[in-house]
Order: sequence, then C-alpha cells, then structure tokens
Amino acid sequence: MESRRDVLNWLLGSWLAGVFGSVIYPISRYLVPPEVPEAAPPSVNAGKAAEIAPNTGKIVPFGTQPVIVVRTSTGELRAFSGTCTHLSCTVQYRPDIERIWCACHNGHYDLTGRNVEGPPPRPLDRYDIVLKDDDVLVVRRA
Ligand code: FES
Repeated sequence: MESRRDVLNWLLGSWLAGVFGSVIYPISRYLVPPEVPEAAPPSVNAGKAAEIAPNTGKIVPFGTQPVIVVRTSTGELRAFSGTCTHLSCTVQYRPDIERIWCACHNGHYDLTGRNVEGPPPRPLDRYDIVLKDDDVLVVRRA
C-alpha cells in the first residue's frame, strides 16, 4: 500500500515539474531577452559622389535603419536619419520644394534636417559625410 502511494506521489511530482518547467521556462525567456549587439556599423558607403545629382536624395540602409543622403541644388552633400520623428515612416527627398518630406502625414524638414511643417516633433538626426576617393561615406556622429 505504501509503495503504491509512493509511486503515485512520484508520478504526480514528475508531472508537476514538467508542467512547471514547460510554462516557467518560456515565460522567463520572454521576460529576459538575450543580449543583441549593436547592429549598425559606424559608417556605410552610399555610392559614388558623381552619381548623386544636384537636387536629389537617396535612401541608403545604415544597419537596420534608413539614412537619406541629399545633394542640395548648390551641390553640397548632407545626410540625415531617414526615419521620420513623428511615427517613424521613411522620409524622401522632394526636388520640387527642395525639402525632405514624409508622405505618411505630410511632414516637412528643411535641408538642415529641421522640422518645419506638419506633425514631426523634432529634427532629423544628422550624419557626417566623408568623401573617400569618389565614394560617399555616411558616418554616424559621436
Ligand atoms: S510619420 Fe512622418 S509625418 Fe507622421
């Protein structure tokens, strides 16, 4: 009689341990995410300078985030975060008004990255441009 009770207690304990482990372990893995190293590199190559015409802009990936490289109508190269500061849509260059524009809610930025019209609450982050031979390097500011 005693041994049958021991076997049942052992089976019940094993079952509870299994249920506890299969519930608690996934929850603990969800609550404590693994460490992920910074994915964005310190700089990216945005292509040849000669291929970026005046009064144009292009989006280039910077790690997992977009960066917009603009050549002003006077020929100066500038780079900004390509993520709108309102609700994170990707911006684009509008040559007709010479502004960086967000199509999601008609947000406007001037060519210094300053938010000048629409809902964006703050300017776009600025990146540095380094010319290496004819390559345009976009460099994260420190
Ligand atoms: S997300 Fe850009 S204006 Fe709203």
